[in-house]
Amino acid sequence: MVREKIMDISLRRGFVWPSFEIYGGVRGFYDYGPLGALLKKNIEEVIRRHYIIEEGCFEVSSPTLTPEDPWVASGHVKSFSDVIVECEKCGEPYRADHLVAEHTGIQTDGMNISDLKEKIRDAGIVCPKCHGPLGDPYDYNLMFKTYIGPGKRKITAYLRPETAQTTYLLFKRLYAAGRERLPLGVLQIGHSFRNEISPRQGMLRLREFTQAEVQFFVDPNNKNSDRFDEVADLQIRVWSGEMQARSSEPKEMSLREAVESGITKTQFIAYSLGRAWSLFERMGIKGSRLQMRQHKDDERAFYSSDTWDIEYISQDFGRIELVGVSDRTDYDLRSHMELSKVDMRVNKEGRKFIPHVVEVAYGIDRPFYCTLESSYVEQTGEKSRTYFKFPRDVAPYRAAVFPLVNKDGIYEKARTVYETLKNLGFYVQWDSSGSIGRRYARADEVGIPFCVTIDYDTLRDSTVTVRDRDTMKQERVHIKQLASRLS
Ligand code: GLY
Repeated sequence: MVREKIMDISLRRGFVWPSFEIYGGVRGFYDYGPLGALLKKNIEEVIRRHYIIEEGCFEVSSPTLTPEDPWVASGHVKSFSDVIVECEKCGEPYRADHLVAEHTGIQTDGMNISDLKEKIRDAGIVCPKCHGPLGDPYDYNLMFKTYIGPGKRKITAYLRPETAQTTYLLFKRLYAAGRERLPLGVLQIGHSFRNEISPRQGMLRLREFTQAEVQFFVDPNNKNSDRFDEVADLQIRVWSGEMQARSSEPKEMSLREAVESGITKTQFIAYSLGRAWSLFERMGIKGSRLQMRQHKDDERAFYSSDTWDIEYISQDFGRIELVGVSDRTDYDLRSHMELSKVDMRVNKEGRKFIPHVVEVAYGIDRPFYCTLESSYVEQTGEKSRTYFKFPRDVAPYRAAVFPLVNKDGIYEKARTVYETLKNLGFYVQWDSSGSIGRRYARADEVGIPFCVTIDYDTLRDSTVTVRDRDTMKQERVHIKQLASRLS
């Protein structure tokens, strides 16, 4: 399985490590190691560059620990829950819908507690671990609850389960800071928390994870995009709610066709999906493994008028949701307005209205895994090796610098080249141990696009060898041209 090979490299070289390992670990948490932290930063940068620089969005960063009121207004306190069932003998907890789906193969979307209870009873499902009897299913809220402050004055608080609400709370300030423009896009990248019942899919289902969520506040009378033409001709595998309802396969079509045939309800949604698709390709995720899937009527949140995911078809995990694009109407701002009594309406061209929100909600940890899976290459034959074909902007390091030998002034010259590249802002790695072949293999294994070798010729003519990770071809480059070559 590719997953095992990737995890082996990851553990050995430092992409991700299970958290709290020396104390036995806790499921649903991962640490990013030295290479993973850089790769993750670069994935976030692809998103930041697009939304902040190219789209002109704002960025905000809010506390992750929040008082209760926002989550009462948003509905999370009441209904951000999964149905849980526990073994009466060993106490193992299970997500009831997953358990039923695994045992019966039936689709459990939209099933309530009594449906699930009935299915568990009818199918005679027992604890998969110890075969003990299962108790009655019940609702389990996924938010981590805690308190802010001490003693009698403490207030109930939650670790945020999404960044979105923390951005909505800032709407009035943002609208003023943006000189009252609509659409107004606001990105927030940060940690969110969900106390998942039984996370079993490695880093695909985490209890603490990173989101990059963009909230577009739009005029409800205008859900078009000025930039739709830039993505309109993208050919994308589309799986609408209607196709799923009649068990039909996804169909390849252009985004223009998706909009014109009414498959996506608005141009803004189609534009956002097209952009997200391109961003995933920029991260190194293969477009041939992506599809956009519309939420079916029984799956969509009641306040949403249209919701889509871009899914990655993983070799080992099947469909993985990478981003959700949702028209959340005025639900969130209206709910906060009702509970806080702060007026969230805007005045525009003689109309007073609550803006609608179109949300583009990326997770970061899942694209991180999918970038690893999509970029992983096993080359066989005479020059057998494994490497990650990361795009240059995403690779943890842009180059590795090697002295051919550690003597005759070559080591010192190589250190100078290394320091110069660092001073120019490149992330570069130093490696002076073992044979050059082994150093190339080490750099390839973690996806470093270029290896720069300083040798005897460097001392004579100031050129270095630049080896390309993918072609393994080498060229001589003058030190003065090195930075532009690496760019
Ligand atoms: N804000 C949407 C989500 O967290 O899935």
